[in-house]
Amino acid sequence: MREVEHPGGSHPATLILGIGELTTNDPSLGDAGDPTGLLRDAALLLDGGRVAWAGPESACADGVEQALGRAPDRVVGVDGRAVVPGFVDSHSHLVFAGDRSAEFEARMAGRPYAAGGIRTTVAATRAASDDALRAGLRRHVDQALTQGTTTLETKSGYGLSVADEERGVRLAREITDEVTFLGAHVVPPEFAGDAGGADAYVDLVVGDMLAACAPHARWVDVFCETGAFTPEQSRRVLEAGAAAGLGVRVHANQLGPGEGVRLAVDLGAAAVDHCTYLSDDDVAALAGSWSGSGDAQGTVATLLPGVEFSTRQPYPDARRLLDAGAVVALASDCNPGSSYTSSMPLMVALAVREMGMTVAEAVWAATSGGARALRRDDVGHLAPGARADVVVLDAPSRTHLAYRPGVPLVHGVWHAGREVVHPPR
Ligand code: NIG
Ligand code: FE
Repeated sequence: MREVEHPGGSHPATLILGIGELTTNDPSLGDAGDPTGLLRDAALLLDGGRVAWAGPESACADGVEQALGRAPDRVVGVDGRAVVPGFVDSHSHLVFAGDRSAEFEARMAGRPYAAGGIRTTVAATRAASDDALRAGLRRHVDQALTQGTTTLETKSGYGLSVADEERGVRLAREITDEVTFLGAHVVPPEFAGDAGGADAYVDLVVGDMLAACAPHARWVDVFCETGAFTPEQSRRVLEAGAAAGLGVRVHANQLGPGEGVRLAVDLGAAAVDHCTYLSDDDVAALAGSWSGSGDAQGTVATLLPGVEFSTRQPYPDARRLLDAGAVVALASDCNPGSSYTSSMPLMVALAVREMGMTVAEAVWAATSGGARALRRDDVGHLAPGARADVVVLDAPSRTHLAYRPGVPLVHGVWHAGREVVHPPR
């Protein structure tokens, strides 16, 4: 989310005490070999919007003295609760209007999910005013924040004309820096049949539409899938986006096997999302993208279990990816068609209960994994220097995220050092 100026302009130095279990995601802070850097009976110091110190509470007097050199402005006790980094939701589609609950109901009665449903939302989105779209964005961002999401990517893709896509990325930029141009979401109805088809639409996407959208976006994306865009069309879109200075991310292998995952790896995409149907070659390509020179930036496999939950598809095989050495993120894919939930705690629960991930792997994937998928090193962890995005759970351990699905476990949230969600006082 974009940082909103605090009324006082300040980030009070805040010491959080009484943390029963602190997930730092800094391997140097926890037990050897634990990528989640788990500390028990811990304390955390926030200053200037950043983490200033993290460690055992027994060492906090020295820690505060060294990091701050004075008493903190505020001391907050959390009574043994668990603390995790703010969730990093690296995939959502929040610029939309309209309602598709009837489509969901029909699906639950047996009709399969298909890419074409996107056009329903396109019609409603085009007809909506800027203010209506803005209000929807803000409502969804607030809902995400109260569930612990402190970094959120969102996409255009329900406009599909130059003006409507430009509006989508422009409005998205009002609520987040992580904006993705998804003009190639599906071919809009006015390009169907004799009107030129998908190739003519791709000409528009890589031409005037990209030129209008690139100034507002950080990323380019394409839906590489039967019913949307072919691998060749997808490559055109992604290469044009990259040439315009955008980072690459891809929707692929959601509804069936295909070449999208290997295309994403080939183009050095930051992430390829869905990954529901993977061949052995796809898995090897994803894992292999992280080998090589020391600071290799590979392609993250972002799994979106809200989609499988809401479309009754088989869940992606997270274990296979992790065992092969791929880097896995979890994201909500919040959108009105395939996954209308912004709940990252639900993604953790589904990943643990349905996809064979351990609690530690799922929490890491929903925080550090998302940060890797956005090529960010300032979020997704709580090591000194990280942005102070902190979630206090009303539970003694992070395991409760999977153990108590559907329960509002987020007790408090700090975003960039400011307390933005707090328990009743
Ligand atoms: O990520 N797969 C493509 N796009 C969305 C679905 C959009 C819709 O159905 O409206 C997704 O699942
Ligand atoms: Fe999506």
